[in-house]
Amino acid sequence: MRIQKAVFPAAGLGTRFLPATKAQPKVMLPLVDKPIIQYVVEEARDSGIEQIIFVTGRGQRAIEDHFDTSFELERVLESKIKEASDKKKKAELQHMLDEAREISNMFNVAYIRQKEARGLGHAILAARDVIGNEPFAVLLGDDVIYSKTPCLKQMIDSYSRYKCPVIALERIPKESIGRFGVIAGDCVDDRLYKLSGMVEKPKPEDAPSDLAIIGRYILTPEIFEILANLPPGRSDEIQLTDGLVELLGRQVIYGYEFEGRRYDAGDKLGFLIATMEYGLRNPELSDEFIDYLGQMDIKSICGKELPKK
Ligand code: UTP
Repeated sequence: MRIQKAVFPAAGLGTRFLPATKAQPKVMLPLVDKPIIQYVVEEARDSGIEQIIFVTGRGQRAIEDHFDTSFELERVLESKIKEASDKKKKAELQHMLDEAREISNMFNVAYIRQKEARGLGHAILAARDVIGNEPFAVLLGDDVIYSKTPCLKQMIDSYSRYKCPVIALERIPKESIGRFGVIAGDCVDDRLYKLSGMVEKPKPEDAPSDLAIIGRYILTPEIFEILANLPPGRSDEIQLTDGLVELLGRQVIYGYEFEGRRYDAGDKLGFLIATMEYGLRNPELSDEFIDYLGQMDIKSICGKELPKK
C-alpha cells in the first residue's frame, strides 16, 4: 500500500526554546524566510504525501492560519500588483502572491487537538481515526533535513521494497548519543539496518551503536493498538520508542541511514546553525551574507576569538 498520509506532531511545549515558545509554536519560528514547519511539509510534498495531519495543542492556531488561505493578504497583494508601475516590483509582488497561494493549496490538511502534552506516542495515537488502517509517515517539525532526495522519499523507497516499518537513522558522535533513541541491528543492504533492539537515551558507554533515531518514521497501523495500551514511560509520557520496542516484538522494523544534513531546529544552537546555513544557501542573501561573515569581528562582538584550526 502506498504511503499517502503523514502525521506532524507539533503539540509539545517547546521548553528548550522558552520564552520564544510561550505563546507561539516552536515550529513557526522562521528559518530565514519560512517557518521551520514549512520546510518539513515541503519534504512531505516532495516525497509524494497527499494528506497531512497536524497534531496541535493549545495556543497553536498559528500553524492552522499559516496553511490556510489568507484572503486579506491576497487582496492587498493583488491591488499592490495593479498599482505597481515598475516591472521588477510587479514581478516581486506576484512571486509573493504565488507563494502565499501555494502554501494554502499544498495539501489536504487535517488538524487534531492533543488536549494534554502526554508524549509523542500519545500525539501519534490522536491521529488514529484519520489514518485508519494504512501505513503512514510521521515527521517531527524540529528536524529539518537538507538533502538532494527528500529524506522521507528515501525511506518510502525502502518501505516499498520491504513493506515493514522504517525509521530514519543518523550516526551521532559518542559524547552526544545519550540524547537520542539508539538502535541495535545488522546492516542488510545499502544504508539499511534490520533492527534487533532500541534504547531510549542510553549512557554513552551502554549505547548499542552510534546510530540514533531521528524525527522521521514510516509506521504500520499496528502501532496504534500498542500505543493505546502502553503505560507512561520516561518523564511520565507515552513514549513512541517504547511503542516501537513492542512493535519490534511483532514485526520486522528497518532503520535507514538517510543521506543529507539534519538540523535540530528545536534546540537553540541547532536553530542558529540552521539559520546560518540556510542563509548561506539562499540566492538572495548569500553574497551579502558571505561578505558580512568575511569582515565580521567576533572579538568586538563577544570578546572571544575563533578557535585556531
Ligand atoms: P520534543 O521532545 O522535542 O518536546 O518532542 P517539545 O515539547 O517539542 O520540546 P522541548 O523538548 O520541551 O523543548 C518531539 C516532537 O513531539 C511533539 C513535539 O511537538 C515535537 O515535534 N510532541 C511531544 C507532541 O506533539 N506532543 C507531546 O505531548 C510531546
